[in-house]
Amino acid sequence: MADVRAYRAALVHCLDDPAKAGEEAVVWHPDGLLLVEDGHVADCGDWTALSPHLAADTPVEHLPGRILTPGFVDTHIHFPQIDMIAAFSGQLLDWLEEKTFPAERVFADRAHADDAARAFLDELLRNGTTTAMVFGSVHRASVDALFEAALARNMRLIAGKSLMDHGPEGLADTAASSRAETESLIADWSRRGRLGYAVTPRFALSSSREQLAAAGEILHAHGHVWLQTHLAESPQEVAQVAEAFRESKDYLDVYDQFGLVTDRSVFAHCIHMTPRSLDRMAEAGAAIAHCPTSNLFLGSGLFDLAEADRHGVKTALGTDVGAGTSFSMLTTAAAACNVAQMHGSPLDPLRAFYLATLGGARALGLEDRIGSFAAGREADFVALDPAATPLLARRLYGVRDIREILFALMVLGDDRVVTRTWLAGRSAHSRD
Ligand code: GUN
Ligand code: ZN
Repeated sequence: MADVRAYRAALVHCLDDPAKAGEEAVVWHPDGLLLVEDGHVADCGDWTALSPHLAADTPVEHLPGRILTPGFVDTHIHFPQIDMIAAFSGQLLDWLEEKTFPAERVFADRAHADDAARAFLDELLRNGTTTAMVFGSVHRASVDALFEAALARNMRLIAGKSLMDHGPEGLADTAASSRAETESLIADWSRRGRLGYAVTPRFALSSSREQLAAAGEILHAHGHVWLQTHLAESPQEVAQVAEAFRESKDYLDVYDQFGLVTDRSVFAHCIHMTPRSLDRMAEAGAAIAHCPTSNLFLGSGLFDLAEADRHGVKTALGTDVGAGTSFSMLTTAAAACNVAQMHGSPLDPLRAFYLATLGGARALGLEDRIGSFAAGREADFVALDPAATPLLARRLYGVRDIREILFALMVLGDDRVVTRTWLAGRSAHSRD
């Protein structure tokens, strides 16, 4: 017997990028019906049109005052930084040395990693994030802990062990050990449940050429794994990379020389890019994880989304916790709107919502599985309360326009507006 459940509430989701397809790409049903069958979306539309066709025995859950959206997709976040978010320091390289590396050392301990993994997944779900692409620490135990916890919740999660043979004392692997551990993690976890593996060279400054070459070989040996790393985040980092890799045309080219620029590659930040490297990313089908709260926190710079668009590069959003200052993809979307304002090219809130949902799915090549309410997608979704705070209740009183509603939810909302989160049709978090 199929497990069929219906939800009656307002619904919003994207069928395409509104910047390309126009605002009709954003589908809004003020009184909608979401039909879920065996953990997948079976149908989605207006309540009045669809409800007469419901089988008499289909349970209908009515969620008055709630807006259902696809679960958020966070394309860049660091698991071992959960306990050092909001750590005051200087810019990127100082922050890494002073605050980040010491915090990551404790993830050698499996018991610590298990405890942090529970808290990390709880925090994602409290914020309505149902898929994330995640950096582990250099220790395989951190990745084992995270995957085990995500598998138990049937959560869609892509993660990998950080490769860093040029890492600091006590936090460095070797090219040989990282190759063996990555291969073994792929064998143990990739494609189990909804898990995926990402080969994870931390950034160009943390890896030897030998390690980057091994990363490229592993990526090409397994067509089902991803690549995640950092690219052109801070001016000091870019200068040091140019010094260390004199043979490369630019920072992207360092990765390209080792076969790391593919349509399964996600590069965080991409603030200080050459036009050539943006063209090359577009050609390869690689994606950018734009992490605006992190970029402001570390003073890294202002990512230019309009420029990435002009070069035809896919962009999505990442929180980049712990340099990012919030787990909330709503808050992250609002920060992306603020950064776009600084370039004089405003980001339409409908598109910011797209970037946090279907845009993230596309960056990960998972748009056939997640990111919208199109029939057949996995039923990862959230319920938002547009009156979750007194100020939101006043601001949105009587407002019917979905662009205005979403923008206020981004600017004024965060985890407080997420009342429930479902994973593959099952309730995984509830504050109702
Ligand atoms: N570059 C290399 N490692 C990191 C990290 O942990 N966070 C950020 N924001 N950038 C990095
Ligand atoms: Zn990062």
